[in-house]
Amino acid sequence: MQPVRPVVLAGTRNRPADVRSPGRPPGKDDVNEQAQLHQQLLDTLTAGGSLRTKPWKDAAATIPRHEFLRDGYFRSVHGAVPAAWEPVLDNDPDWLTGCCQDQSLITQIAGSIVPADIQGRIMREPTSSSTLPSLVLRMLEDLHVEAGAQVLEIGTGTGYSTALLCTRLGESHVTSVEYDEDVAARARAALARQGMFPRLVIGDGLLGCAGAAPYDRIIATCAVHTVPAAWIEQTKPGGLILTTIGGWLGASELARLTVHDDNTASGPLLSGQVSFMLARPHQAPPLGLLPDLSAGKERQAVFGPDVLSDWTTRFVVQNAAPHAQRLTLEHDGRTEDVLIDITTGSWAALHNNHAERWTVRQNGPENLWDTIEEHLTRWHTDGTPALQEFTLTVTPNRQSLHW
Ligand SMILES: C[S@@+](CC[C@H](N)C(=O)[O-])C[C@H]1O[C@@H](n2cnc3c(N)ncnc32)[C@H](O)[C@@H]1O
Repeated sequence: MQPVRPVVLAGTRNRPADVRSPGRPPGKDDVNEQAQLHQQLLDTLTAGGSLRTKPWKDAAATIPRHEFLRDGYFRSVHGAVPAAWEPVLDNDPDWLTGCCQDQSLITQIAGSIVPADIQGRIMREPTSSSTLPSLVLRMLEDLHVEAGAQVLEIGTGTGYSTALLCTRLGESHVTSVEYDEDVAARARAALARQGMFPRLVIGDGLLGCAGAAPYDRIIATCAVHTVPAAWIEQTKPGGLILTTIGGWLGASELARLTVHDDNTASGPLLSGQVSFMLARPHQAPPLGLLPDLSAGKERQAVFGPDVLSDWTTRFVVQNAAPHAQRLTLEHDGRTEDVLIDITTGSWAALHNNHAERWTVRQNGPENLWDTIEEHLTRWHTDGTPALQEFTLTVTPNRQSLHW
């Protein structure tokens, strides 16, 4: 995908024309109910341990999340297979309660569809959301930010986390990049309704934002496959990058990297089973035409694809085969789990034989399942270290994870 040229959207004090709140104006009872539900959300976040320190408690108390969801959200349709979504607009009696619960809320589907566009249900992929509030606040706490810091946020989304940063640090200390022009425009309007005008940029956040660099902190609310070199270049030595490392097998975890003088960065994975949608340019490429899956050498497997059901094991596997994608196919009258690395053409197909054991068939320049089993065996030999014992190291040419 071509990088998107950054466009600075705001950062001036000129009030944009579209800052009026959508929907009907709230009455007194509405205001009381909003305040009460907002307080309940804060209590939940504090009790759960994600909202820990006074400065962030104050910021969260000032910024009601529902003000960033005035254009509505999508609720998942209970029991729908495949997953389906239905719109909840701000005149819906459930809207406010939904906004004030600790749940992530989908705000855009298939790259352009917003709740007001839909009557009924839709079955396409979500492309933007308001992150789980406990995760937003936990990440802000984990950012270890101090007054006066310059922060770059990647993935403005609704603007809720941007508003929290502005409240804590002041809008002149906050730059936020959003890939999607419409999402960015809605965030700009929501922030302006709160009287906030940080530097908002439409573009590919994987390029950072050189115009306002260097930063003390970079925080990403979308996941990355690999940490972009631009983030390291644009962070001051000693500064921190907080980002989720994700991948095409659906594994992910939050990492906090310290940037060093020599243009490298390293740091631990943090606990918590954190997952975000992958940054758009890092999403899995289409598989295209499948290779001939009948060719290949077969052997008894040491591990089966069932290991991928476990959060930590899936992360280890993904790290061993970072370009592999997984699919399930009917082949020769049986169901097979297939991993394909389209960058090399290597693949591995696994099926369960009658003796409750797994057989693997592989082909291509690399024996994909051999590589994965070697990693898994080493991880087991070392006592299956938890993800928090992993360290991520990023150099200008390479990203590696060690336990
Ligand atoms: C989970 S949402 C962000 C939630 C937001 N922080 C909030 O509190 O509402 C992730 C956002 O990242 C954006 N995004 C995806 N890839 C991006 C990229 N390469 N650069 C900037 N934004 C990106 C998506 O369009 C989406 O709006």
